Amino acid sequence: MILTAIIAGGDGMAFTVDREYEYLAAMFGQELQDRGDTYEVFDVDDITLVQRGRTRLFHRGAELDPAGRVYVPSPISICPVRERKLANIYYVLLEQGLPLLNRSFAASPELEVNKTVMQALVADLDIPCVPTMDLAPHMSPEDVLAAAEALGFGLPMILKPNRLSNGIGILRCHDRPDFIEQVRLIQRLKADYLLQDYVSHIGDLRTFLSRDEIFGHRLRKPAGTEFRANLSFGAKWHEIELPAKVEEWSLRIAARCHADYIVIDWLMTDTGFVFNEMCSTIGTFIGVPADMKTRLANTILNIGRRKLTGSLTPRSGDREQDRQPSP
Ligand SMILES: Nc1ncnc2c1ncn2[C@@H]1O[C@H](COP(=O)(O)OP(=O)(O)OP(=O)(O)O)[C@@H](O)[C@H]1O
Ligand SMILES: [Mg+2]
Repeated sequence: MILTAIIAGGDGMAFTVDREYEYLAAMFGQELQDRGDTYEVFDVDDITLVQRGRTRLFHRGAELDPAGRVYVPSPISICPVRERKLANIYYVLLEQGLPLLNRSFAASPELEVNKTVMQALVADLDIPCVPTMDLAPHMSPEDVLAAAEALGFGLPMILKPNRLSNGIGILRCHDRPDFIEQVRLIQRLKADYLLQDYVSHIGDLRTFLSRDEIFGHRLRKPAGTEFRANLSFGAKWHEIELPAKVEEWSLRIAARCHADYIVIDWLMTDTGFVFNEMCSTIGTFIGVPADMKTRLANTILNIGRRKLTGSLTPRSGDREQDRQPSP
């Protein structure tokens, strides 16, 4: 089996080919080697789609032989052109029925990269989410505030980039003038932002799952007066017992997304947990508790192998492609 990642990444961000290589190595290197398997990472810009009779993938002029390959989606990018190209490649892989981990995230990258879309799915499962609203680019900041208040949002509020930011650009607005000034700036920059209630929280709880099993969980608590529980802002890992409810919710989200593996983040408040975001990118799994890593890696690789041989037992509602052997 060749675990294959084609990545869009983008300039100036963490998800480069080298980084993805490191992630795959850290997560699966040993386990793949133990089985005599391997991994490869390609930059989306080096892949060409060629259609003469049938569609084939080329890497720098040489055909990418699909034999033995299981593809690992990595939809995250800050570059829309590369992101669209990668989506086209996933489309071809899906159409050809090639083995692909986390098919649903490849088929609908927005499920992973767009916070409003993922929240819509989770809220639909009657699981509490951080109240969220798209920031309309054409409304005056005063009208945005009025609309938000009419919908039940109240200050303090959070303004946050819709897609990955590692905590950067997340703004907490305490009062009206602050809110209006920040919204005006965001609109001038034409940045893709959303608005949320400020949810006072003790920490950010991350659950690590495969198809139907929770492999671990970690709580990140923000440092000092910082409200963001990102490690890059000094947050530290803490131990807590996983609440049964969060376990049940996490499994339900994974099933609803047809996920093979997934990481889900919950804000821990005084009164319970609320869904914040989810991510299927392998890099996020590097934080899985060490004692669980090998078991998780082997579980994901087994899913890949079973997709390759067409022997995966589908869950109810799983996509048709997961039931079929690859051609
Ligand atoms: N609505 C909110 N209310 C209060 N705090 C929030 C809110 N949204 C985010 N935060 C804080 O900011 C942190 C980062 O936000 P979030 O995880 O949504 O964005 P991110 O940039 O995608 O981070 P990551 O790199 O973890 O994916 C969260 O861990 C949380 O501590
Ligand atoms: Mg986060």
